[in-house]
Amino acid sequence: MSISNESELIGIKEISEIVGLTLKRMREYAKVGMSTQELDEYGGEILKSYGAKSAPYETYGFPGYSCISVNKEAAHGIPCSKKILKEGDLINIDVSAELNGFWSDNGGSFVMGKDIHKHQPLIDASKQILHKAIHKIKGGVKIADIGHLIETEAKKSGFKVIKNLAGHGVGRSLHEKPENILNYRVKSNRERFRKNTTVAIETFISTHSNQAIELSDGWTLVGNRGGFVTQHEHTILITDGAPVILTQANEIWK
Ligand code: CO
Ligand code: CO
Repeated sequence: MSISNESELIGIKEISEIVGLTLKRMREYAKVGMSTQELDEYGGEILKSYGAKSAPYETYGFPGYSCISVNKEAAHGIPCSKKILKEGDLINIDVSAELNGFWSDNGGSFVMGKDIHKHQPLIDASKQILHKAIHKIKGGVKIADIGHLIETEAKKSGFKVIKNLAGHGVGRSLHEKPENILNYRVKSNRERFRKNTTVAIETFISTHSNQAIELSDGWTLVGNRGGFVTQHEHTILITDGAPVILTQANEIWK
């Protein structure tokens, strides 16, 4: 969305802080032996306590308040009482929600407890690439150039990107224009980021796959060539200079 007045800025800041805090608290609450449903319900209660509505639950009919993807699940994992977190699991939590007509989106991957399966290099690459990409974005920058940066940096670290998942405009709904802020360059895309607009920038960095495919449950995405995928996401406000990281309360870069 394009921010044209103070009340819009306050509205997007408010919901962004809520989804950021919810993501941070869920990450801290996750424990070995806990089901992803229990973790999801904890997050759902936090959103409710602020009067916010889960975007996937309310808008898309998703069977959970947030997407919790474990190990081979690349995204849109369904919280489940039978899915129990184990030491060394690669977990991604994505929280998006609405308050007073404003929407915000954020996510992050982390290892449950000790990194016995050595996922940390993939996670660190994703975090650093998101940081680099976001700090290159200002009004007038080509969306394709940011995609190029993300893919180039992923390759430098020995990883790949998922090509059919993307960041997006956000603000007055969960997904709005620009619709496809991809993790690679589409040369024909001449679209540019615009000052005073809000977008969700997200990485999809993978060890083997370059496409996400949907499982028969109609939600869960996995990589087409197996391996693991990490995602980190912030909602930002684009300016003439450094962007404002609206969801910084999630502390994914700490
Ligand atoms: Co998200
Ligand atoms: Co998003």
